[in-house]
Amino acid sequence: MTPVPTPKRILSGVQPSGKLHLGNYFGAIRQHIALQQEGICFYFIADYHALTTIDEATRRRLGTEKFKGPDRASTLREHVRDVALDYLALGLDPEKATFFRQSDVPEVAELAWIFSTVTNMGLLERAVSYKDKIDRGIEASVGLFYYPILMAADILIYRSHLVPVGEDQVQHLEMTRDIAGRFNRTFGEIFPIPNYRLDKVAKVPGIDGQKMSKSYGNTIEIFAEGKPLQKTVMSIVTDSTTVEDPKDPDKCNVFALYSLFANEEEKAALAERYRAGGMGFGEAKKQLLGKINDYFAPARQKRKELLANLDYVEEVLRKGAQKARAEAQRTMTLVREAVGMAPSPAG
Ligand code: ADP
Ligand code: TRP
Repeated sequence: MTPVPTPKRILSGVQPSGKLHLGNYFGAIRQHIALQQEGICFYFIADYHALTTIDEATRRRLGTEKFKGPDRASTLREHVRDVALDYLALGLDPEKATFFRQSDVPEVAELAWIFSTVTNMGLLERAVSYKDKIDRGIEASVGLFYYPILMAADILIYRSHLVPVGEDQVQHLEMTRDIAGRFNRTFGEIFPIPNYRLDKVAKVPGIDGQKMSKSYGNTIEIFAEGKPLQKTVMSIVTDSTTVEDPKDPDKCNVFALYSLFANEEEKAALAERYRAGGMGFGEAKKQLLGKINDYFAPARQKRKELLANLDYVEEVLRKGAQKARAEAQRTMTLVREAVGMAPSPAG
């Protein structure tokens, strides 16, 4: 077995697929940032993966069925830049975590190919995200089918031990463990079998009460502010209880969102006002708006500063990629040797 170095290696990827929202923050980003204290972190922006979904993202942005090459490219570039700005503004510290663009380490695509030769079709055919698309009658690209293999390569090329993810990614992690095991049995023990850590917050509701998601158009964006943010918060769906009537906080989307920001005392105080009656949902929404504004004020400020200094952001990604790539090349030297290839041309 490859010895597990201490501290352990933690890795996660974020798809650059649009403006990040409160679901992404409480479901993923906050945990990623907290983990910087616990190990050696690799966080990357998954632009190779995004190529499998960019059509949809571009259509959403341009509101058209047709789009041309440059629109598609500029959408991807913009989304990558947005994720970089968002993570840095929200507290990712490039001194602590290696932060980079997935495609700046092209070795990962080579490893994915090698993995594809030890992966059965059946494993990929069981992938929920692929099956979903097929069931909905959407044409799937080979890339979408291959997505879990690239994800396994992302994780294993840095020989990661821990991958913090949301529930929707658990199946991908199980596939990664499977692929690592199969590679090790075939070619020798190169990869640690990675564990995942489920992010704690279960499901952040969107403004319509369904799970908050870009694909449902029900999000509250982390970096929205002013009138647009106010409008979104005021449009959160509530039931038709009148101002006078007592209300059940546990059945209210506004209260669920407020709870993400408030401490126990504040939650108890607002719950009490719900139950007592005499408070309209408008008042609860105002309290929620206040919380969002207070909570994200420093990050908004930081994001504006970063936006005025994009060279710095690019430099962070470039340096991150250099570190990540050196590590990936070390792994590829072992892999190429193990499968019977010449030493890597790069290394
Ligand atoms: P979206 O559904 O908006 O496309 P993604 O699938 O890109 O979001 O999710 C990115 C990360 O954010 C994942 O780790 C996912 O589990 C988490 N996440 C997204 N929406 C929510 C939500 N409503 N509640 C909790 N976590 C979420
Ligand atoms: N598939 C992940 C998502 O949609 C993004 C991702 C790509 C990822 N590669 C990864 C996450 C490796 C964790 C580890 O959220």
